[in-house]
Amino acid sequence: MRKFLCNFFLFVSIFGFTESSLPKPYNEVTLLPFYDPDEHPGRHDVRYKQIFKDHKIETVIEVGSWLGNSARIFAARIPEHGKIYAVDHWLGSIEQQSDPFLPHLYQQFLSNIIHSGYTNKVIPVKNV
Ligand SMILES: C[S@@+](CC[C@H](N)C(=O)[O-])C[C@H]1O[C@@H](n2cnc3c(N)ncnc32)[C@H](O)[C@@H]1O
Repeated sequence: MRKFLCNFFLFVSIFGFTESSLPKPYNEVTLLPFYDPDEHPGRHDVRYKQIFKDHKIETVIEVGSWLGNSARIFAARIPEHGKIYAVDHWLGSIEQQSDPFLPHLYQQFLSNIIHSGYTNKVIPVKNV
């Protein structure tokens, strides 16, 4: 019984901590599994790496973030206190209107950022 109670409180405290420690709006989303078909680790990073280093970039305003591929690449390159402002209406561009992802786009974006661990760096700005 004692072991059960210890495990129960450990479980509750871990989950309680995880949920409440996420900043808004990440703490409001129903988490989806990570999914980004555009993710190609390292594809753009070689180009960005030098730019971020040379210019000591700490803040980025990205207009058009989709599922967060480039936002995550930028987040990996800025210091801990840096910020990526990810501006999007998450309704998709004109050419993306047939994409089956659209109804869950924002939820998937937030979930991807949670899975990548960049919730303190990536600030979603939903412009609708
Ligand atoms: C090609 S995707 C961006 C890809 C993204 N940077 C990546 O790393 O995968 C274009 C994005 O622009 C957004 N968008 C289109 N028109 C916009 C507007 N007027 N304001 C904000 N976002 C817009 C769409 O919703 C879509 O997410």
